[in-house]
Amino acid sequence: MGVRANSRPGTRQPFTGMRRALAVGALSVLGAVTAFAAVSGPADAAASTLGAAAAQSGRYFGTAISASKLGDSQYTTIANREFNMITAENEMKIDATEPNRGQFNFTNGDRIYNWAVQNGKQVRGHTLAWHQQQPGWMQSLSGSSLRQAMIDHINGVMSHYKGKIAYWDVVNEAFDDSNGGRRDSNLQRTGNDWIEVAFRTARAADPAAKLCYNDYNIDNWSWAKTQGVYNMVRDFKSRGVPIDCVGLQSHFNSQSAYNSNYRTTISSFAALGVDVAITELDIQGGSAQTYANVTNDCLAVPRCVGITVWGVRDSDSWLGANTSPLLFDSSGNKKAAYTSVLNALNAAPPVSPSPSPSVSPSQSPSQSPSQSPSQSPSQSPSQSPSQSPSAEPGGCSATMRTVNSWPGGFQSEVTVTAGSAPVNGWTVNWTWPGGQSISSLWNGQQTVSGSNVTVRNAPYNGSISAGGSTTLGFTGNGSAATPSVTCTSP
Ligand code: XIL
Repeated sequence: MGVRANSRPGTRQPFTGMRRALAVGALSVLGAVTAFAAVSGPADAAASTLGAAAAQSGRYFGTAISASKLGDSQYTTIANREFNMITAENEMKIDATEPNRGQFNFTNGDRIYNWAVQNGKQVRGHTLAWHQQQPGWMQSLSGSSLRQAMIDHINGVMSHYKGKIAYWDVVNEAFDDSNGGRRDSNLQRTGNDWIEVAFRTARAADPAAKLCYNDYNIDNWSWAKTQGVYNMVRDFKSRGVPIDCVGLQSHFNSQSAYNSNYRTTISSFAALGVDVAITELDIQGGSAQTYANVTNDCLAVPRCVGITVWGVRDSDSWLGANTSPLLFDSSGNKKAAYTSVLNALNAAPPVSPSPSPSVSPSQSPSQSPSQSPSQSPSQSPSQSPSQSPSAEPGGCSATMRTVNSWPGGFQSEVTVTAGSAPVNGWTVNWTWPGGQSISSLWNGQQTVSGSNVTVRNAPYNGSISAGGSTTLGFTGNGSAATPSVTCTSP
């Protein structure tokens, strides 16, 4: 279905070559760059860089950075001026960070990390568990030794960057291109639970980082691969597997084209209670209109926290400059696509600044996937909403316990228990005693007002049978505390 149907587990060379060949073909189909700025922004008070424009609505705008180009002043000037979130293009991958088993090398990852932080930017970590760019020693492992190596790798890399990474792509590209199931790979052959083991390991290794699943060709809501990932995330949320975000790589080309249902994809993932990020955006042919559409689709969903383009200038793109996929041309000039993105960002309604993307207003029911039921393929995610109150008697109760704590932070679990009658929708509430704050919450939808926290059920866990219970969890900043929790059900 997609351009990358041929990428094979365990082989690297054909992977890039294949994608480049397809990229060139795609350009000829798309034709010349559309020199048309799709959106006109307000003239007054418009921000003049992508990062500043995105920040007006509490989002970031990022790019992939290559350590080998940090000496190129044109490159670093543009990158520093325009972007406020940085992903290492290759330098934090498995082959770069653990070239020999048990020997970690963070030289180039740290060069990028330090450059970013010294210039006031945040960092996305990319990536901890992937079938590509594995060092030779890992490619030759299987079974329990590979599983252990994966766990050791996650622990090794995450402990080096502990507390420093905003989002980690914990698992990358684990789904099959066409059938909605898992991709065959050496990691998959260690057992179907490898993904959740990776996420649980990651949470324990750095509870402050938001943990993402990242993939390509999960942009089109009607594709089986998108639905496969959606179902996995829904399952993880319902079972308390710690996942905080989904990354849509969004490499668009003629075979993997932008579709207007992209907004439905973003809002549907967000409705599961995860952040959504566009993580590796490039658009072959560089259509300004498509760039504006992508930007506007993100801006339409409160939990779409930011956009990262996969490179600075066309000449920096992994796809080759001739595909014209990025926002700056090979001489560093702003393209029409740049202007359309900037204008779209400037046209977004401002939000009051929030301390981190995690406190994004997640609850907008208008983001429900039921917006466009016609686009929903097999499993319609609309087993939602117990949100409409149905006056159940019986009530509910709730308790909080500390799962884990460390200097400056903690992880907690709230158990919500139904009384003598079933509960159909619940809301819990507590007040922090000492300035605590939530950095990431799962299995619920939070609203924060000062020290007061209200968490409503997620779309999938509102119904509790008589006497039954469900849990939500979160990581917090500050000293662990267990305030009393009230529970109400409609
Ligand atoms: C690409 C890099 O851009 C190339 O330099 C490298 O040769 C191959 O990997 N999906 C991902 C990214 O998650 O890590 C890939 O990056 C692009 C596709």
